[in-house]
Amino acid sequence: MYIVTGGAGFIGSAMVWKLNREGISDICIVDRLRKGPKWRNLPGLSFTDIVSPEEFLDRLDRSKGLPPTTQAVIHLGACSSTTEADADYLLQNNFQFSRELAEAALARKTRFLVASSAAVYGAGEQGYADHPDNFPRLRPLNMYGYSKLLFDSWAKQSGILDRLASLRFFNVYGPNEYHKGDMASMVFKAYGQIRKTGRIRLFKSYRDDFADGEQKRDFVYVKDVVEVMWWLLNHPEANGVFNIGSGVAESWNELAAAVFSAIEAPPSIEYVEMPASVRHQYQYLTQADMTALRQAGYQGEFRRLHDGVSDYINLHLDRSDPYINNGKRLPASPPDTPETPEAPKEAEAGAGEEKNA
Ligand SMILES: NC(=O)c1ccc[n+]([C@@H]2O[C@H](COP(=O)([O-])OP(=O)(O)OC[C@H]3O[C@@H](n4cnc5c(N)ncnc54)[C@H](OP(=O)(O)O)[C@@H]3O)[C@@H](O)[C@H]2O)c1
Repeated sequence: MYIVTGGAGFIGSAMVWKLNREGISDICIVDRLRKGPKWRNLPGLSFTDIVSPEEFLDRLDRSKGLPPTTQAVIHLGACSSTTEADADYLLQNNFQFSRELAEAALARKTRFLVASSAAVYGAGEQGYADHPDNFPRLRPLNMYGYSKLLFDSWAKQSGILDRLASLRFFNVYGPNEYHKGDMASMVFKAYGQIRKTGRIRLFKSYRDDFADGEQKRDFVYVKDVVEVMWWLLNHPEANGVFNIGSGVAESWNELAAAVFSAIEAPPSIEYVEMPASVRHQYQYLTQADMTALRQAGYQGEFRRLHDGVSDYINLHLDRSDPYINNGKRLPASPPDTPETPEAPKEAEAGAGEEKNA
């Protein structure tokens, strides 16, 4: 059995899809469905059980550990909101829960993958290298990022970084992110903006060396992310902390161009003022250093924005059923793209500062 925490969420449901494509359906999803449309990620997928994190922990207690049939734990479940203000909740849910699960998996020598985040790098003053020597120097900008750094640091201090794989995702985009609201990718938001207004709004630049919209991020397509996780499942010798980005920085203008091109609409970008509160911590360039994953032996390609966005829009967003699925699913309704908010808020989220997860 494969345990996928966060398996109803964006990356988790894509990972369940990948496992299904590899012929695996003995999967236990650990997640909360809550009141929104998150459940719609599930009907096209095959799995054997779905339980809440609380019920899962109870079962762990009762059975004194993971079921012996567990082949791997893919721990993607976390509060993924970079703006979550309840630090105690993040501490308990993102750090302590992860630690408990890691201990249970390692006690049974079970393969353990866990989601960390590029948010650990904060404003990027220390660069984006995933080497453990850098951990003490990192200063996340929010408690979410800190909750992820706490786990990586604990794993390092406990001497178990050579027994698990912690994945620092950069800006992931792709199908099944529709429930994420403000935390959805700018690709999804841009698609909604263009469909509603015919244009995209981006932040102006406040640096002479960057033109408007030329600020850059490392965007990575969810279908490439699940390929990496599948490879890691099959290479248990590949352990440690790995940046998971495309390794290439692309600009908001390039993102906009990719979306307009996929939609076949004439480009129209409005550059709006950045709120003063954001300006002082705004990042002009993020780019994953992919050395660790490449040195571990991963040779897969990562799509550039143009190709990933084209796949996302043509095979998902433009379809009546936009969810990633295995061809068997209930009738679907199209996703609600987030309401077009006032420009600064939208551009702020789009500019990815808080969502630089
Ligand atoms: N998407 C990105 O760009 C990105 C970047 C960096 C890192 N990450 C990390 O990648 C993982 C997946 O993110 P995502 O984008 O797929 O987010 P997502 O769609 O919000 O999925 C995460 C799911 O995990 C659930 N969850 C929360 N705490 C849990 C727990 N203790 N046990 C099991 N499930 C739990 C969440 O439910 P509730 O929140 O409703 O409780 C949610 O359904 C997260 O760990 C996130 O921090 C994502």
